[in-house]
Amino acid sequence: MPRQLFVTTALPYANGKFHIGHIMEYIQADIWVRYQRMMGNSVDFVCADDTHGAPIMIAAEQAGITPQQFVANIQAGRKPYLDGFHISFDNWHSTDSPENHELARQIYRDLRDNVTGSLIETRTIEQFFDVDKNMFLPDRFIKGECPKCHAKDQYGDNCEACGAVYSPTDLMNPYSALSGAKPELRQSEHFFFKLSDPRCVAFLSQWTQDGKLQSEVANKIKEWFTQHTHQDGSTSVGLVDWDISRDAPYFGIEIPDAPGKYFYVWLDAPIGYLASLKNLLESRGVDYDTYMTNPALEQYHFIGKDIITFHTLFWPATLHFSGRKTPDNIFVHGFLTVNNGEKMSKSRGTGLDPLKYLSIGMNPEWLRYYLATKLSAHNEDIDFNADDFIARVNSDLIGKYINIISRVVGFVHKHFDGKILEFNPSPLETSLAHMVTTLRDAADEISTFYEQLEYGKALRKIMELTDLINKNFDTYKPWILSKDNRLVDLNDVCHFTLNAFKLLTIYLKPVLPLTAQKVETLLNIPAQTWSDIDKPLEPGHRIDCYTHLMQRVDHKQLDALFEPAV
Ligand code: 2FM
Ligand code: ZN
Repeated sequence: MPRQLFVTTALPYANGKFHIGHIMEYIQADIWVRYQRMMGNSVDFVCADDTHGAPIMIAAEQAGITPQQFVANIQAGRKPYLDGFHISFDNWHSTDSPENHELARQIYRDLRDNVTGSLIETRTIEQFFDVDKNMFLPDRFIKGECPKCHAKDQYGDNCEACGAVYSPTDLMNPYSALSGAKPELRQSEHFFFKLSDPRCVAFLSQWTQDGKLQSEVANKIKEWFTQHTHQDGSTSVGLVDWDISRDAPYFGIEIPDAPGKYFYVWLDAPIGYLASLKNLLESRGVDYDTYMTNPALEQYHFIGKDIITFHTLFWPATLHFSGRKTPDNIFVHGFLTVNNGEKMSKSRGTGLDPLKYLSIGMNPEWLRYYLATKLSAHNEDIDFNADDFIARVNSDLIGKYINIISRVVGFVHKHFDGKILEFNPSPLETSLAHMVTTLRDAADEISTFYEQLEYGKALRKIMELTDLINKNFDTYKPWILSKDNRLVDLNDVCHFTLNAFKLLTIYLKPVLPLTAQKVETLLNIPAQTWSDIDKPLEPGHRIDCYTHLMQRVDHKQLDALFEPAV
């Protein structure tokens, strides 16, 4: 039975262009999605712009346009990146869409009206008010010292240094990032999600610790169940209620029956996953509710390690207590640093700009491959290193993989009119057949690595097999067989090498979709899926002439990539 998968990446804030970190996440998810599709599973892979919140409202105001226009401008720039890096989303939507407004309001009502008791509660709180700007200060615009690790200049909702989650009033030495003024505390009625409710605590301790999450993620979460540090240094035990409302002016979704109150952006952002899916399904004429209530449906979210709390506490609780399906897993990756995370000086440029990468003619599959070799199922950080990148691309992809096909195709055309002939039982044939069997037998191991997000391991295995083919090729010296006109042996070498190469191409296809497509054309075979590992090229099959499949990367391209913009 094919699996039914609903997969997302985190929704990027619609306040800027993609950076390389976004692209890495999309590539990680895309490889998994392509692998699943090759397995015959049905995947709906969606994303959207995360549009709401004060920062976007303020940026739009500063640009002299409406937040809607601001967001539309950002959204209009997404396509070149996604197409450029072969990211196969089925839909790109927006959290400021009718679907999201409707879903967010309905989910809220379901939480509020939960038959076992409401999960929503209102409370008058004291909140920072910027007297210069005459507005309550959004979390992101109050900065100060983290109450837990004392890192300076942290935002009001969570600490990027230690990952602690708190409320803005917990910050030490707060200041307004809008005016610089020391903010004043004023009273306002806020809506809370009762995360401290025993039902929530019971549900989340089970949901987060039942073994599905990465162990390092589950361990991190455990801390949040036990301790919360307040501004005065006191600690309280257990989960803390989550403030889900903001006062006007706010760019967001108005809370039902509460004029002037809006959902905090993090309440409606993940609901945007569902909104994007719903929008996709509607375009296909598929009923959203029926789709979501399919008990076999699996739901996965790829995210970075900075937003674990939102996805492992708030999001599953929101879904569960509104009577909805919870995610089957959250896949957390680390951060990407560039050239050892070194601070980029003016003379060395400012990092790796994905669009520049494409515009100077660098191959997107180089980056897909390189990042994949570094990715694992754990959330450790990854470094993009220019020299390492060149070495991986030129030695693995060109020197090993492409090398095979570029050498064999010529012989097939020179001696056999582009055709693979019947092979001959001979000692040569036995050992070559063994090579193909070895490749075929690795399929399950490679498949498991992809399934488990262990791309680095998958690619190391694939490169081992690539070495094996090259070694055989060199052992049998087809160029001598060709010169000596020993065509029976030559045909055997070509035949088995082509079949081995076909297997390699299937194994690499989730990472190198375009190259795989070119190989399919060259080999004159249909689009390959995983089950095609058992369909070798048969005698009589004709292949095309060799056309260039992939260039080597040049040092100069990396220099250009990191050259500062003028
Ligand atoms: O951290 C971020 O970039 C958020 N915009 C991610 C939102 S993910 C989902 F919840 F929408
Ligand atoms: Zn901290």
